[in-house]
Amino acid sequence: MTSGLIQRGFPQVRLRRLRRTPALRELVQETRLSVEDLIYPLFVQPGSGLKSPVASMPGVFRFSPDLLLEEVAAAVDLGILAVLLFGLPHYKDELGTAAYDDQGIVQETVRMLKKHFPDLVVITDVCLCGYTSHGHCGVVRDGEVDNDQTLPLIAEIALSHARAGADIVAPSDMMDGRVKAIREKLDAHGFSQVAILAYAAKFASAFYGPFREAADSSPGFGDRRSYQMNPANRREALQEVLLDVAEGADLVMVKPALAYLDVIREVRETVLCPVVAYNVSGEYSLVKAAAAEGWVDERQVVLEILTGIKRAGADLIITYFAKDAAQWLRQG
Ligand code: PBG
Repeated sequence: MTSGLIQRGFPQVRLRRLRRTPALRELVQETRLSVEDLIYPLFVQPGSGLKSPVASMPGVFRFSPDLLLEEVAAAVDLGILAVLLFGLPHYKDELGTAAYDDQGIVQETVRMLKKHFPDLVVITDVCLCGYTSHGHCGVVRDGEVDNDQTLPLIAEIALSHARAGADIVAPSDMMDGRVKAIREKLDAHGFSQVAILAYAAKFASAFYGPFREAADSSPGFGDRRSYQMNPANRREALQEVLLDVAEGADLVMVKPALAYLDVIREVRETVLCPVVAYNVSGEYSLVKAAAAEGWVDERQVVLEILTGIKRAGADLIITYFAKDAAQWLRQG
């Protein structure tokens, strides 16, 4: 198939012919980013009238539910179809009980959003790290994060989110077997229609730094390397993805995005379900900082990054730039 290209060369072949005018370039563009590709992550905290800036993420705020509603209305107006919710509970304890409280911050917010925006796709992050006093994503026993003791709690969180009306639950804890545990729990309680977006290939990344300020979810001791993946491992990422699909994941995620574009590509070619990439907090903050210094053109850099993630194979992109990107795409 490529032999024609190889045999003929310059001067018969001139690739610049199709780059000559804006219309020609538009016509042969291979990858198109659109607002439907974007998922908008949001932080919600208890209270009212609150819109607290996150210092390391200029333009990102922790909203109380009332103001979150306005933010979501603006996103919906721009054509954004889906949001991903992170909650900041008003208390933390060893077992992260606020995470599976039916009156918890995420549960209340999901109910409110579904009431005002029944068509909005509401995705919830299912994890313990923002809710535990030690900041780990699971139950700590003898200084270690215990996989099997964590599973019932993760399933309990997912169930309470489903009860509140979440369309998709997204486990980000990286315990083995959590997708299966969640699927069984949801099905046993009549929520077979609720989908699971697995943070399947989630790497132990320094790019989560700003998020941990936003979500107040830093581990109190040690790090997350005993459950999140080694950034050096590609084959293991595929194992994670295949296991999550086998356990019942409806969508799979690669996270972070930019240092893992090869993983996104390979996952896209390995599974048939939608592939989601998370353009994480640190990737956002790097662009924001450079743009604030006037070193890069924010709009162009963001659209280039998001297009690159899509070209790598992502069907959907979770990004803090969702609203800005939607606006820029609309302006054309
Ligand atoms: C919770 C979670 C994290 C992120 C999403 N869910 C942080 C972590 O694993 O420490 C990171 C998102 C981002 O950096 O934007 N487990």
